[in-house]
Formats: sequence, C-alpha cells, structure tokens
Amino acid sequence: MSSKLRLGVNIDHVATIRNARGGDLPDPVRAAALAKLAGADGITAHLREDRRHILDADMKRLREDIDLPLNFEMAATDEMLKIALETKPHAVCLVPEKREERTTEGGLDVVGGHNHLQRFVSDLGNAGIRVSLFIEASKEQLDGAKRLGAPVVEIHTGAYCDAKMQEDRDRELERIRTAVKYGAGIGLEIHAGHGLNFETVKPIAAIPEVAELNIGHFLIGEAVFIGLEAAIVEMRRLMDEARTQTDGAK
Ligand code: PXP
Repeated sequence: MSSKLRLGVNIDHVATIRNARGGDLPDPVRAAALAKLAGADGITAHLREDRRHILDADMKRLREDIDLPLNFEMAATDEMLKIALETKPHAVCLVPEKREERTTEGGLDVVGGHNHLQRFVSDLGNAGIRVSLFIEASKEQLDGAKRLGAPVVEIHTGAYCDAKMQEDRDRELERIRTAVKYGAGIGLEIHAGHGLNFETVKPIAAIPEVAELNIGHFLIGEAVFIGLEAAIVEMRRLMDEARTQTDGAK
C-alpha cells in the first residue's frame, strides 16, 4: 500500500463567503491556486443543485486554470452528469444531496440506489473519469459500491468527527478502520472525508489503506485566523506525521 497520503482541498466555502455578498470576491479559483502552492494534491468542489456555493463558471475555471486533479462532487442527476461530462474532471464523487441540509449529512445509499446509480457510474467511467462513491463505513455499502463497479469510495467521517464523547469517537474510529480494511481487501481505493480538523485528522491519516483525504470547511475557517496556506501546510504536516508513525510501526 502506498504510504503517500493525498490531500484534496475543498474550496466550496470560499464561494460561500463570496456568495454571501454577491460579486466576485473572494475567488475560489485563487484559493485553489494557493492550495497547490501549500501542498494540496487535488482540488475538490461540490456543484450543488441550488448553487449555494460553487457556480458552473467556477467549475469551468477550476478545470481550465488549475493544474491539479479536480474532484467534482455532485448528486446523481442528469443535469450534473451532463455538466461533468462537459467539464471532464479527473474524478467525480457521487454524493447524496438534500436541498434543506446544510452539508452532506450522510453517505449515499449505494445498495438501495443500485439501479439508479448504475448508469452514472458507467457513463462517467466510460468518459475516463474516476468515479468515487461517498458512503458510510459499512460492509454492506462497500459491497454495494463494488457491485456497481466504482473504483473508489470515500468514507464519510462526519459521525467520528462530530462525536463529543471519547467512547463514541473511539467506536466510530473503529468502525471506519474496519470498513477501510474490508474495502481495500475487496479491491476498492479508499478515500475519506467530512468534518476533519487538526484534532481529528491523525487517526484517519494513520490508517495505511487510506489513499486520500478531502478536507474543506475547517481549512477555510482556519484561514480566517492563520491564513489558507498556513492552514493547509499544518494539515499536510499532521497527515504526514501520522503516516510516518504508521510506516515506522510496520
Ligand atoms: N468529502 C465529501 C464527499 C464532501 O461532501 C465534503 C463536504 O462537501 C467533504 C469531503 C469535505 O468536508 P468538510 O468541508 O467538512 O471538510
């Protein structure tokens, strides 16, 4: 298993701040360029149906102007499929989307949604786009992702990050560890993300089968205090430190 853990920086919430005022500033594409300088391995952006943060023009500029792999998060709808096929990002991460939610609250049900999702996974895959499914840490969902033929899954770390009691956090972490090992064992590439911060990132980064983390909200918030570049550099340092400790323990 490769020990290099990739960091995808999600710049959605730069657009959230921009859209709160209208106009062009702050520019999420500038944030993506800075993320590259700070050591990001990829840029992640979620084009939501209601366009509350990232806009269609942002996706186009991220694809054209930023020399990093673009991970396009989207709901499995015909509108988004058309935009993704036109944009041709490096990867698409299919996520569930509810209009009234503040953020992506849970994983995609790839078991119950098998018939609906099949066409999206194959159309995107046939276009040369790497398809990832954002799922809960469960064996059932991992088997469902495998049946759909997706090469990658992203494990939802929200419940682990949100847990207030240490015992709950430990239990969620164990659930994620078990799922990651199972998923890697059936041949899936494993990513993880949602809610990660300087405190929660290391135990996830230490799981050797995890190939990529996607992190956004915390980094953009921290940028208000220490700057975006410093926030990304510190996140990268913590990830690398956790991975070095894992490699050293082998
Ligand atoms: N991964 C996926 C699939 C997501 O939907 C999100 C949130 O947009 C993230 C990662 C990043 O989560 P956060 O912004 O909480 O770091």
